[in-house]
Amino acid sequence: MSSSVVLAFSGGLDTSVGIGWIKDATGCDVIAVAVDVGQGGEDLEVIRERALACGAVDAVVVDARTEFAEHFCMPALKADALYMDRYPLVSALSRPLIVKHLVSAAKQFGADTVAHGCTGKGNDQVRFEVGITALAPELSCIAPIRDLGLTRDKAIDYAEAKGLPIETTKKSPYSIDQNVWGRAVETGFLEDIWNGPIEDIYSYTDDPAIARNADEVIISFEHGIPVAIDGSPVTPLQAIEIMNARAGAQGVGRIDMVEDRLVGIKSREVYEAPGAMALIAAHQELCNVTVERDLARFAGTARQRWAELVYDGLWFSPLKRALDEFFTTVNEHVTGDVRMTMHGGRAVVTGRRSSHSLYDFSLATYDTGDTFDQSLAKGFVTLWGLPSRMAAARDERTQG
Ligand code: ARG
Repeated sequence: MSSSVVLAFSGGLDTSVGIGWIKDATGCDVIAVAVDVGQGGEDLEVIRERALACGAVDAVVVDARTEFAEHFCMPALKADALYMDRYPLVSALSRPLIVKHLVSAAKQFGADTVAHGCTGKGNDQVRFEVGITALAPELSCIAPIRDLGLTRDKAIDYAEAKGLPIETTKKSPYSIDQNVWGRAVETGFLEDIWNGPIEDIYSYTDDPAIARNADEVIISFEHGIPVAIDGSPVTPLQAIEIMNARAGAQGVGRIDMVEDRLVGIKSREVYEAPGAMALIAAHQELCNVTVERDLARFAGTARQRWAELVYDGLWFSPLKRALDEFFTTVNEHVTGDVRMTMHGGRAVVTGRRSSHSLYDFSLATYDTGDTFDQSLAKGFVTLWGLPSRMAAARDERTQG
């Protein structure tokens, strides 16, 4: 029989009730683990005390914001990772980090089971369980909501019957997941995909339609990582936080999409990721200036694959890890400054400079000082077109 269970604890109704449920169903002690990935909201100490009050034998809280920014968000930025070309992987990036802390808590407390509060319909169950399998295959996983049929109504009844210290009447119609990289909002009236998002659902961004002055920012990168904003040095976490505030105030980074979940369902999500989307826009442009053409083209395919692997819960997989090495190489020369104007929901690059630039004014200019030898172009174009010319001649011969 299992000795104890480590539970990924958010402090919300489901995981609070989950503590007692797991204990009742398995007879095991429950250790709650809460991880701060920059989701804001309640103080970690309050969450810790709630876990203990709900019956956990121990509760661990981890401030993982710096780790999340440096080891999860920055690799995503280096890859300009956008699932389905749009979603910056907000939730998908935080799950493997939570998994790491669950595994270390399980080792610390000698637990042999890990529990999470995901339903059976989403991606996060996959990310937790595949992550656990990759890091600690000896651990088993349980998901009370999915496996023990813990519905919201039952959770409320249970909390009231046991007098658990949680607010059970507050009923948000939305399912929200947020961290420093962004915010995801689903369910409620958004499940009708014809319904437009209302202003109420946003919290990281202001309405882009509200008139305000544009904000111009200069972001400096070293090897693909933001290191300064308007000349002041920043850590990756600070860069994201500052850009969340500044780009968020301009309504940058709102995304309303229908996405393909790993379990086969198409679902509607509304995201807001002002910092992530502004940083990605700046980083992409610096790549355009500093990354050699064929490497950039290949990176375009690899970034899509990277995003799919992370979305699909394969953060710790060999291919994902190999692609991280590839993107470190891609970012070797991604050093320099990007100037952007943020306004009306858009972050638009207006200038770039880099000592690693491959842009050569004397090759590009149409003015005096041109060093490009145009006489070489004629022969190049003739040979470049040779296969097409041969194919056209063959078509005429065989079809005529
Ligand atoms: N669809 C997103 C993903 O799978 C977000 C999931 C969590 N979203 C939520 N609103 N609870 O990464």
